[in-house]
Amino acid sequence: MNKIKSYDASFVFLPSVVIGVVLVMMMQWCRKGRKGSEIPGKLGIPFLGETFAFLAAVNSTRGCYHFVRLRRLRYGKWFKTRILGKTHVYVPSVEGAKTVFANDFVVFNKGYLKPMRDMVGKKSLLCVPQEMHGRMRRLLSDPFSMNSISKFVPKFDHELSERLKRLENSGKSFRVLEFSMKVAFDGICDMLTSITDASTLDQLEHDITYVTDAMLSFPLMIPGTRYYKGMKARERLIETFKAKITKRRNGEEASDDFLQSMLQRDSYPPNEKLDDEEIVDNLLTLIIAGQSTTAAAIMWCVKFLDENKHVQDRLREEQLQILRNKPAGALLKYEDLMSMSYGSKVVKETLRMSNVLLWYPRVALDNCTIEGYEIKKGWNVNIDATQIHYDPDTYKDPMRFNPSRFDEMQKPYSYIPFGSGPRTCLGINMAKVTMLVFLHRLTSGYTWTVDDEDLSLERKAHIPRLRSGCPITLTRLDDTYMTNS
Ligand code: HEM
Ligand SMILES: *[C@@H]1O[C@H](CO)[C@@H](O)[C@H](O)[C@H]1NC(C)=O
Ligand SMILES: *[C@@H]1O[C@H](CO)[C@@H](O)[C@H](O)[C@H]1NC(C)=O
Repeated sequence: MNKIKSYDASFVFLPSVVIGVVLVMMMQWCRKGRKGSEIPGKLGIPFLGETFAFLAAVNSTRGCYHFVRLRRLRYGKWFKTRILGKTHVYVPSVEGAKTVFANDFVVFNKGYLKPMRDMVGKKSLLCVPQEMHGRMRRLLSDPFSMNSISKFVPKFDHELSERLKRLENSGKSFRVLEFSMKVAFDGICDMLTSITDASTLDQLEHDITYVTDAMLSFPLMIPGTRYYKGMKARERLIETFKAKITKRRNGEEASDDFLQSMLQRDSYPPNEKLDDEEIVDNLLTLIIAGQSTTAAAIMWCVKFLDENKHVQDRLREEQLQILRNKPAGALLKYEDLMSMSYGSKVVKETLRMSNVLLWYPRVALDNCTIEGYEIKKGWNVNIDATQIHYDPDTYKDPMRFNPSRFDEMQKPYSYIPFGSGPRTCLGINMAKVTMLVFLHRLTSGYTWTVDDEDLSLERKAHIPRLRSGCPITLTRLDDTYMTNS
């Protein structure tokens, strides 16, 4: 009985399914003619899609970009996939990057995850809607002016020189990544809040680590979870910053730093200042956005220079020339960085090849096409900086670390390590300056050996970093270097 019934049902069902499929195909074919073409790729099972394949890549030592690489081999430059219920497209071209950047806030917005929003706070520059973003960005960029960067250079140089000296004296191998994380953190905190006390800094850095670890966690406030620990650490950080603001307002302390420049605006009209919540959320945001990016870039630079000794030699020669022209023991000044033309290219090439931020996530606010490809409202559109920076049409021999390629001008949107458009990195000058001072002290003072050649990447990291942390041992350059030229 049952068998016959189901046979009957399929008898009616099948033809209508076939007709349905043909209709849909025809509709799609028609639409293809009218609008853009469909992007190849597999969306997989509902909701989950290729989530597990993605997580497997995240958890591997080849890094999460391997997921993208494999799909490009299968589908070509443009492909789509589904991760945790969202359709993702990776925009692989200069033309496509231009379209997205030029329409930021209009057709696209930043693609946030809830835990990330919760950690940085809703008044963070990363989260506020467009109407607040412009004002906030204007007020926040003030402290990144040439004037404050100029003050940062000798301070940072002093701190860095002392630490390198101590490490060289100890004769021990140390991980560049750990070192650069600490140096970048202390540098940013000093510039923002003038906190220099070692135990306070350690506590703050500890809490920042909890906060960043929670950014890709499941957002449930259950004690013991990564999310919970992150939220608690965030509360402690906010409390510390708020206590500092109160002290400054009461005149118990004063400093010439970012925080002070914010508080100087207390009597300004509301759209010419940030309120306290905005100040603390953005202090946190700047530390998070600035520390691990700069630190990873420094680590890769040390690695690339080790693998390319002729680049290292040429860089060292430039940096020694600067040292020879200064009184013995003098600290670097901002103007000195202007004569590091080769050093600047080394920094540029490092950022091209290391792709500290692999892609820049956006969400389409409307149906649209990019380069003739159809994008639907709600899709995640990721500007694939990695693909763009390794495109052999733009960068000849893209796997080669060759700073001199930047002797030539790049065409617009083909070099985007700091993004572009209204959301361009706010710390771009600070990052470059930090890297140049580091390169100067390292190459003009020392040679080094890399003590672990393993190229595998850290697991579960959204920023590609060597799993080894790139351990090195320093040797002081002998004095003959100072007189040779
Ligand atoms: C080598 C180091 C750095 C790299 C490679 C880098 C890269 C980037 C990129 C690509 C973006 C744009 C992302 C997007 O469009 O989705 C960005 C945004 C941002 N960066 Fe950086 N960054 C670095 C260092 C810093 C530093 C040192 C700071 C501050 C202390 C900083 C603060 C910010 C902020 C606040 C934004 C958000 C801007 C906005 O949304 O308006 N970054 N960064
Ligand atoms: C991540 O990889 C390690 C080593 O291959 C494995 O033991 C672990 O189960 C993996 N974790 C997840 C969540 O896939
Ligand atoms: C976007 O396109 C789909 C079909 O591709 C359509 O159903 C939907 O109404 C469109 N949405 C908007 C906001 O135009």
